Amino acid sequence: MAFIDPKLVPQITLYDGAKIPCIGMGTFGSDHADGEAVSGAVAGAIRCGYRLFDCAAVYGNEKEIGQVFKAAFDEGVVAREELFITSKVWNDMHGKGDVLLSCAQSLKDLQLDYLDFYFVHWPFPNYHAPGCDGDSRNPDSKPFTVEEFMSTWRQMERLHDMGLVKYLGMSNMTIPKLEAVLPLCRIRPAVIEMELHPAFQQPELYDYVVAKGIQPIGFCPIGSPNRPERDKTSEDIAATEMPEIMEIAKNHGVHPAVVCLKWAVQRGEMVIPFSVKERNYTANLQCVTEDPLTDAEMEIIRRADKNCRLIKGQVFLWPGATDWRDLWDEDGTITK
Ligand SMILES: NC(=O)c1ccc[n+]([C@@H]2O[C@H](COP(=O)([O-])OP(=O)(O)OC[C@H]3O[C@@H](n4cnc5c(N)ncnc54)[C@H](OP(=O)(O)O)[C@@H]3O)[C@@H](O)[C@H]2O)c1
Repeated sequence: MAFIDPKLVPQITLYDGAKIPCIGMGTFGSDHADGEAVSGAVAGAIRCGYRLFDCAAVYGNEKEIGQVFKAAFDEGVVAREELFITSKVWNDMHGKGDVLLSCAQSLKDLQLDYLDFYFVHWPFPNYHAPGCDGDSRNPDSKPFTVEEFMSTWRQMERLHDMGLVKYLGMSNMTIPKLEAVLPLCRIRPAVIEMELHPAFQQPELYDYVVAKGIQPIGFCPIGSPNRPERDKTSEDIAATEMPEIMEIAKNHGVHPAVVCLKWAVQRGEMVIPFSVKERNYTANLQCVTEDPLTDAEMEIIRRADKNCRLIKGQVFLWPGATDWRDLWDEDGTITK
């Protein structure tokens, strides 16, 4: 197995000056890679030089991944302080005290005594069953409210106060929601996860987050070609099949997936690509250490944005909502 020295991986500086690697490994098996396959990839990725792992309770594999972390620490492959480990509270655990319980469970499953990053996975308490199809709706779903979100965030802040979580994160937010909640946060988010790839660049949200001193983390950075069926529609555009990306990939002699990652990292994002294949996750880590895209190539990709959201989140819609665009406040106000 190739080893890429973590010292060669570009670092990103958080608001307090702490440095984190610009690339980590995603761990969502997208309803097809089971816990064993994903934790096997995590074990390989640690040996390959990955130092950041994006986990979440809802991915259903934290126990298996925890066994891999413990073995890696016990065998001296890596020390806890060298790794950056993320988890997220799922939508059914936003209630009073539940965030603390959820974090305790993730810490237990991952066999850790602290997390580097803990995220509110989605900004509403709307639950869907794992593996559900795209038409599934929960009649108990509700629109976002500032009050409910802040009551969840207060619990996140407590976790930070207790020393269980180093940095807090939000995910799947919009500018109107951030405008409403950021001024109310006692502890502001250090990072925000959002869907980002060449076909969905979200320039306004990206620039807004950067201007607030928060680090954007791009999920689905390759365009999530193997995402669950519920997240696929006939209008979706595959980033790896965009002619601009394919042409640049040909010129660099790499897979289009690698061009997506180079573009993201050079833009200033942190990325968390998923792969269970050693050849692919090695290429993904290696690519940020060599052969950067030119300014002209970066500009070609910037202009190729298709504004095509893949993870629409329609399974979180509440009774009375019109369609998935309601989740994303497209008219510039919080949709109720
Ligand atoms: N906060 C949120 O709400 C949220 C939402 C979605 C995702 N996420 C996080 O973001 C991570 C990444 O998103 P994602 O997994 O949906 O999509 P992704 O990273 O864009 O795409 C992953 C897919 O790309 C393929 N791939 C990876 N590297 C490749 C390479 N070098 N060449 C060719 N194919 C390659 C993988 O297939 P192989 O396995 O066959 O290589 C895998 O199926 C997730 O795992 C999760 O941790 C967070």
